[in-house]
Amino acid sequence: MKVLEIVTAEEAGFCFGVKRAVNMAVKAAKENENVFTLGPIIHNPQVVAKLKELGIVSVESVDDVSEGILIIRSHGIEPAVLKKARKKDLHIIDATCPFVKKAQEFAHELVSRDYQTFIFGDANHPEVKGILGATNNKAFIVDSIEDIKANKIRKKIGFVAQTTKSPGSYKKLICSVITDCKEAKIYNTICNTTEIRQKSAEKLAKNVDVMLIIGGYNSANTNRLADICENTGTPSYHIETADDLEWKWLKGKQKVGITAGASTPEWLIKEVIGVMSEENKELEETMEEVEEVNKKEEIAEVETEEKEEEVVQGADEPQEETEEVVQEADEPQDDVGDETEEEVEEQEEVEEEVDKTEEFQIADVKKGQTVTGTVVEINDDGIYVDVGYKTEGFVPLRELSHRKIEDAKEVVETDEEINVVVLTLEDEEGNMILSKRKADYEKAWEKIMAAYENDEIIEAEVTKEVKGGLVVDVGVRGFIPASHVAIGYVEDLSDYIGEELKLKVIEVERDKNNVVLSAKKVHEKEREKQKEETLKSLEEGQTIEGKVTKLVDFGAFVDLGGIEGLLHISEMSWGRIGHPSEILDEGQDLEVKVLGVSVEEERISLGLKQLLPDPWEEFARKHYEGEIINGKITKLVDFGAFMEVDEGIEGLIHISQLARRHVKTSDEVVSVGEEREAKIINIDPEQKRVGLSLKELQDKEQPQENKSESAGKSKNTENNQQESDNSSGATIGEIVGDIFEKDE
Ligand code: F3S
Repeated sequence: MKVLEIVTAEEAGFCFGVKRAVNMAVKAAKENENVFTLGPIIHNPQVVAKLKELGIVSVESVDDVSEGILIIRSHGIEPAVLKKARKKDLHIIDATCPFVKKAQEFAHELVSRDYQTFIFGDANHPEVKGILGATNNKAFIVDSIEDIKANKIRKKIGFVAQTTKSPGSYKKLICSVITDCKEAKIYNTICNTTEIRQKSAEKLAKNVDVMLIIGGYNSANTNRLADICENTGTPSYHIETADDLEWKWLKGKQKVGITAGASTPEWLIKEVIGVMSEENKELEETMEEVEEVNKKEEIAEVETEEKEEEVVQGADEPQEETEEVVQEADEPQDDVGDETEEEVEEQEEVEEEVDKTEEFQIADVKKGQTVTGTVVEINDDGIYVDVGYKTEGFVPLRELSHRKIEDAKEVVETDEEINVVVLTLEDEEGNMILSKRKADYEKAWEKIMAAYENDEIIEAEVTKEVKGGLVVDVGVRGFIPASHVAIGYVEDLSDYIGEELKLKVIEVERDKNNVVLSAKKVHEKEREKQKEETLKSLEEGQTIEGKVTKLVDFGAFVDLGGIEGLLHISEMSWGRIGHPSEILDEGQDLEVKVLGVSVEEERISLGLKQLLPDPWEEFARKHYEGEIINGKITKLVDFGAFMEVDEGIEGLIHISQLARRHVKTSDEVVSVGEEREAKIINIDPEQKRVGLSLKELQDKEQPQENKSESAGKSKNTENNQQESDNSSGATIGEIVGDIFEKDE
């Protein structure tokens, strides 16, 4: 016995937008009186009739309503009509499908940006009228290539499409003029719900003997489904209800496919399936009769029987099978027939998509819940976020950030994935309102508490200077006291504005929304670590780079990385220095030599002159004993006087070498700052000593003086000095004695 197999399309019946609109209407009717819809809420007379039973009245114009609730249907309306309704003080529930609203917005944007705007759609369809209204009637409605070709194409053109249009025809339309313009902006506003339904219907139609398409005769998308099914070559029949079903269509058929328009409720689909099941028995009898007749035809009879056996499985228990099919009719059915691997894969993909869709439907999202979504649009008032397969929520500007922002682009960008908290599932206009600020706030506190409890470092940007410190953005407002901005005093805190700082949380009071942070603590910790490493790595004799942090009278402190070393003034130069500032500046980088390290005491002594050429060695190389040299008396001591004979080289004129005569104190012969000639009597570079003598110069000069006297010529400083020395009280005996010594 053969029975009729009923297979329902994977995607059929109410779409998201229609379901949403109907639910909004039902809810409004349950809670209020005087509920009106502007035009039939959807293109399905049976649904409209049912809603009427609930008290929802469909009106043609805003003028027909004086008070109460006016529901805007899923197709949307022109903004001007909406304005008029608002003026009448009607309570508006905007059930416009978010996808349709998007199309309106895109069209408006195109026109306002001077694009020659085309709306691909049916000029009589309310959705298209609404989109046109959003452009102040400045766009052009086109429904075919001929329509668009009738226009003079401008440089800049833009497109939006009625949500139920076929992607293929949209493409063709655009391609027909794409080369006639300089710039084209195209918005794909075709609802993929429609596309999925259409593909699903087409696939099913190819695998059944007959297709039934259920939905309003005035429903554009149902008509489109019927066209698609018919184009597969499979006999296809558009019906509104089970009453429209004609059994002759099914005669001789084994498998019937069912699909339904986006405005067809589930109960209507079930009704059709139910009627077919009831009549299945009758159908069996009819089929038996056909078989009887066929038996008379020898070969055809056998072939027909075999084919029927193959296709119809479980034919032994026909009634049970029929019931099973009917029970499962609500759910997507497995296609029966020979499917290629590709088809199976495709089907699995569609199933996966459907699963995902179900996960994110509005019904699964609760008020107060944090959900993840993708930014799909940014405008002046806020952003639209796709939090699921079909749902887009709106985040107003004020709900984007805890900081005051002028432009949403300051905090998000298109396609960015963000977390949002659901504030309202449906506001007065039916929009889902979300808050990024709240989601960020919760996340920020989690981060702050974790950082506080685990002594972790967080990074934050300094946003402004306030009395006593800085304000940072840690997802909430954080405060850094001035004493915690850095190690040491900071003169101008405003230098930090805009800087990203590493911070430690030092105080938290969530109930008071108070977070106190410290950058100094981070620096201290970093320095401590650095100090250990530096101390470990330092070796006596090593040359190291450092930075002068402070100059004091006795030297300079040099930061070597976490620890400072002392560069004593005596180690700065081979010459004499009055103050370190003569050769160094605070903040200056310099190379120093490590002279000593005490890890226990954390003391490091440094030298700078050690890196300069040793002037004693230089001196020993350039000068010799017996040489007469110029210099400046730098210091008088009990045992003589020091004379600088080169940079960093001071020689000693012992008191016994100051003059031939007896000198009691050196100031009898020399004074500080006085320039003199002296004779080098000894050089010891290792001991860093130079012995000088004035006396020997006098000894040497005496005979010269005699010679010059006899020659009557030579005049030099020595002579003057001699005179001076003599005049300073050297005895004749001392001079003569010396002469004798010399002669000997
Ligand atoms: Fe909206 Fe798409 Fe349905 S546009 S009304 S979800 S078919």
